[in-house]
Amino acid sequence: MQFVPIESYLGKPSTQGKEYNINYSLVTRKEDARCEEEDVSKQEEDGDRPEKVMIWEKMEKEEKKKVWEPLSETFNVAGQEITIKLALDSYGALIWPAARALCEYLENNKEEIDMMDKAVLEIGAGTGLVSIVSCLLGAWVTASDLSDVLGNLRYNLSKNTRGRCRYTPQVAAMAWGHNLQRNFPHSVFRYDYVLAADVVYHHDCLDELLVTMEHFCRPGTTLIWANKVRFECDHTFIQRFKDAFDTTVLAEVPEEEIIIFKATFKTNWD
Ligand SMILES: C[S@@+](CC[C@H](N)C(=O)[O-])C[C@H]1O[C@@H](n2cnc3c(N)ncnc32)[C@H](O)[C@@H]1O
Repeated sequence: MQFVPIESYLGKPSTQGKEYNINYSLVTRKEDARCEEEDVSKQEEDGDRPEKVMIWEKMEKEEKKKVWEPLSETFNVAGQEITIKLALDSYGALIWPAARALCEYLENNKEEIDMMDKAVLEIGAGTGLVSIVSCLLGAWVTASDLSDVLGNLRYNLSKNTRGRCRYTPQVAAMAWGHNLQRNFPHSVFRYDYVLAADVVYHHDCLDELLVTMEHFCRPGTTLIWANKVRFECDHTFIQRFKDAFDTTVLAEVPEEEIIIFKATFKTNWD
């Protein structure tokens, strides 16, 4: 699989219509700490070097040692402050641009997309921002993702919804296209809304993603998919998505190349 730097996916964060702050934390990486130990013993050997030079070198080393990593982001949505804990170890540990755009859309279009008392499933929920906003808007939410990102997802959901929402959000492990009928049979799992933000990017599971969308987008379900269009292959997926469902464009953020689609079960197959 070709390596594409994560920054090229994320693009520039939007500040339009929403207040948000990124809190950074100063962290010292383990390797740097090890270097420092080694350097200290080396400095002991350099007993006859001028003190000024040594202080300057130490300051330089201290600066190099500093790595600023985002720890959390704070949003004000639906009259509530939301704090999302981030990490840098997976795609699901950051908030992606389409998630911000979708939250903004849901908050500003409550009449059109009425979340109150609705059953909502988010696929590829990541840090959980979209699920949290849906909860705050009154929905009964299940946030799903691969099992290795569920810890952070669960933490964010619990921290931001406890005592504030009509329903306690659920978390579910889901690998797209795997055991869907066994783990989420149609007879039991029926959702009013299925939400997906930035789930199409450079990965090998696009077929499985479409299968998952088809599994959950049954008659009576509305699928809302927000995506930043990045690569040529995204257009191929958009075409397959349009072929699979009845679709309309709900909103576009042209400066960020984000499109928010609404899809329903296809009734008229040509
Ligand atoms: C780019 S991130 C977007 C996260 C979040 N929706 C957002 O917009 O901030 C894509 C998400 O899809 C999840 N994902 C990727 N491949 C998956 C798969 N095969 N099955 C289930 N989830 C997957 C990742 O774990 C990640 O949380």
